[in-house]
Amino acid sequence: MSFKNKIVLVTGARKGIGYAITKIFLIKGAIVIGTSTDILRVEKINNYIKKYGKGKGMKLDISNVDSIDNFFKKIQRNFGKVDILINNAGILCDNLLINMKEKEWQSVINVNLTSIFRISKRVIRYMIKQCYGRIITIGSVIGSIGNIGQTNYSAAKAGLIGFSKSLAKEVAHKGITVNVIAPGFIITNMTKSLSNKQRAKILSKIPIKRFGNIKDIANIVAFFASEKASYITGETIHVNGGMYMP
Ligand SMILES: NC(=O)c1ccc[n+]([C@@H]2O[C@H](COP(=O)([O-])OP(=O)(O)OC[C@H]3O[C@@H](n4cnc5c(N)ncnc54)[C@H](OP(=O)(O)O)[C@@H]3O)[C@@H](O)[C@H]2O)c1
Repeated sequence: MSFKNKIVLVTGARKGIGYAITKIFLIKGAIVIGTSTDILRVEKINNYIKKYGKGKGMKLDISNVDSIDNFFKKIQRNFGKVDILINNAGILCDNLLINMKEKEWQSVINVNLTSIFRISKRVIRYMIKQCYGRIITIGSVIGSIGNIGQTNYSAAKAGLIGFSKSLAKEVAHKGITVNVIAPGFIITNMTKSLSNKQRAKILSKIPIKRFGNIKDIANIVAFFASEKASYITGETIHVNGGMYMP
């Protein structure tokens, strides 16, 4: 599987799942644009990009339209296109619905769902023009099974499945596929804060009896981006050790 000279955009590339996705594309020959909201973290992305391949770390806040517009002006100047988009960046802001503040709802919907619309809309123009493209969005098992304290997160993650199915139908005839990967519990910063009790409870529901690791997700992303997956679109693949089987 080679992505030689393909331009790949990965949002939230500094750590966790985004880091593993960026690394796998670098190793397989792609030119990767990895983003962070923080300029110091952009430098860290640049350091590992240099180590593994070719590309550029760039600043991007996907919750901010001006930041997205500036970012895509630079993409146009420096790269002229995006072949493969990985919508990875995401946040949590948990609260029971009864206590959830408007800001907690809006921020999670904005970062985890509205940004997918904004960024996909900007890259789809390049993809339609060249009759080729891959859009892969990182969802979550929570979008399918729900979770206490995560009405905002599960609404956003469920929403991006519907978004991807509709977009898949709009652009399939242009050689563009649009898919979702829905991880279960993966060992990253996002899951580090779980208590031992919470971990044990989650593990009891995972038939494979371990949390996922970031490579488990990156490998499937690379598959969806490859020619081998060119007949799969509008699909959601669950990578969760068997904790949820649709
Ligand atoms: N870990 C899990 O168990 C799990 C399970 C299911 C789904 N997921 C999903 O997988 C994706 C990656 O999660 P992770 O666990 O790797 O999380 P993580 O380690 O917390 O990383 C999240 C990334 O999102 C970026 N980000 C946050 N807000 C942003 C914004 N406004 N604009 C641009 N980038 C922003 C962060 O970038 P900077 O901080 O550098 O700006 C960071 O790189 C998310 O969509 C998450 O919902 C994770």
